[in-house]
Amino acid sequence: MSKFDYQDLVCDIPDYPEPGVIFKDITPLIADPQGFSAVIDELAEHFLGRGITKVVGAEARGFLVGAPVAYRLGAGFVPARKPGKLPREVISQCYALEYGTDEIQIHADALTPDDKVIVIDDLVATGGTAVACAQLVEQAGASVEGFGFALELAYLNPRDVIAETFGQEVFSLIVVD
Ligand code: PRP
Ligand code: MG
Repeated sequence: MSKFDYQDLVCDIPDYPEPGVIFKDITPLIADPQGFSAVIDELAEHFLGRGITKVVGAEARGFLVGAPVAYRLGAGFVPARKPGKLPREVISQCYALEYGTDEIQIHADALTPDDKVIVIDDLVATGGTAVACAQLVEQAGASVEGFGFALELAYLNPRDVIAETFGQEVFSLIVVD
């Protein structure tokens, strides 16, 4: 149970970006000074003391949450970016989205086998993005220590998808049933 009441700061936008999808708009939450610091502090607190060395966050909204969590943990931040955005050698992973398919990449030398990594994103829906990030971590030879999300759309069963490959280490602040 979260210490902060986040619900009023997340807006439901029906039929965006396409019919049948309810978009969860977190911009009011991260624009709210107390809300933003509570999200970052609570996510970071969960993973404190575990020797996390790197946080991987997926473009674009994963940067908003992942980078400050990494800072709070004293860890480095590794951006997982859409194709063509990173200038050096990359490793790639294709994945299915709640709406459509995509591919993300990290720099091939961004992680080493010594790294203990968490995947952080604003939201987990189908789990496709988070699993793709974790697969990039494994491709790099580093270890996946867990997953943290501000919002979890539990009705899409992302925990099951993540558990299939990476176990149950999933922490979400707001769970939407
Ligand atoms: C959203 C969200 C997560 C992902 C979750 O990102 O920020 O990264 O969807 O969905 P999934 O669990 O079904 O993969 P989106 O791809 O819309 O792009 P953005 O972060 O650039 O807005
Ligand atoms: Mg995203």
